Amino acid sequence: MFSTLSAYAGDPILTLQLAYRDDPRPEKINLSIGLYYDNEGNIPRLESVQRAQKVVNASTAPCTYLPMSGSPAYCKAVQGIVFGEHSEAVGSGRVATIQTVGGSGALKVGSDLLRKFFPNSSARISSPTWDNHRAIFEGAGFSVETYPYFDPVTQRLDFAAMSAYFRTLAAETIVLLHPCCHNPTGADLSHAQWDEIVQIVAERKLLPFLDMAYQGLGEGFDQDAYLVRALVRAGQSFLVANSFSKIFSLYGERCGGLSMVCADADEASRALGQMQQAVRRNYSSPPAYGGHVVETVLLDPQLRPMWEAEVNAMRERIQAMRTQLHRGLVQHHPAYDWDFLMAQSGMFSYAPALAPHMHELIERFGVYIIESGRICVAGLNTSNVDRVAQAFAAVLK
Ligand code: LMR
Repeated sequence: MFSTLSAYAGDPILTLQLAYRDDPRPEKINLSIGLYYDNEGNIPRLESVQRAQKVVNASTAPCTYLPMSGSPAYCKAVQGIVFGEHSEAVGSGRVATIQTVGGSGALKVGSDLLRKFFPNSSARISSPTWDNHRAIFEGAGFSVETYPYFDPVTQRLDFAAMSAYFRTLAAETIVLLHPCCHNPTGADLSHAQWDEIVQIVAERKLLPFLDMAYQGLGEGFDQDAYLVRALVRAGQSFLVANSFSKIFSLYGERCGGLSMVCADADEASRALGQMQQAVRRNYSSPPAYGGHVVETVLLDPQLRPMWEAEVNAMRERIQAMRTQLHRGLVQHHPAYDWDFLMAQSGMFSYAPALAPHMHELIERFGVYIIESGRICVAGLNTSNVDRVAQAFAAVLK
């Protein structure tokens, strides 16, 4: 019956994670998947999250189905963090938000919905981007092309090429944008550059779909959401997928959100209905437990600042590791220009020069990076960073 099934080549990130897990070497270092490790090399359980879990675990409320759109309190909390606490768009009821199965679930629901109502549109993703972006939009039935983003020669954002390309796009083209901590490059737009993109979006009547999986890990919660707020100010309609996996260290609970910013409240109520239908057809309703934990943290006046401080500490540790990696690389391979690392932000760095050496890095040094040359800086700590610098220097010499 199933003899015609072809073999799955595997996923460049998740399949490598299994190889890392099965590697018996104690000195192995995981810089592949986007996981935040603390300085002791552990994936932390945040204190604010543990306290919220105690509250949720103590509840004797029945574990019934959530609505298709998820927990209302969770959706309110998503709107607060993504759009800001005093957002005009939220206040006027023109934002429809649902709880989703991680950020990927939000992208899937959003792309299915868009395919139904914009069947003639096509999608544009940055070159490079997170591999699953193409898969999800193609899976929804869109044709997907890339827009220029990262210049491998300068190892920096190529804003001139990106903006020029956007000026050529047809109306209603879906443009997938990373508001902060670009995955995989860590090369982000400045606020002034985002303003220019917002202007082009308005002029060309483009349809932005934002993927914000790292809010708080770039410059701060509000700074990282600059693009969201700028599009709202400009009166644009758009979608934003957000994820709490990294910033709550709750990867396995799959907590995300999808928001659609509409022209008015009437349009938003129809957007909500269409998102609910897309959810029902995909997985019926989201799981409850992780969402209750997240909403407990975000809506509690004591836990919320505790959590924000924990995320701020994560961000600062990542920045410190980036600086130490840069210092180590300059020391071990001074002939190479490593300054691009310091221009990157968030969980990742991107060094395409390392891409051909991925297997050697794994086999000789036990250092796992993604085949594109993406490095998860959040996997570095004070005990392993120099070993990583030496390994990178060794393969490039
Ligand atoms: C990553 O980019 O490593 C993470 O977003 C995990 C994933 O699902 O790929």
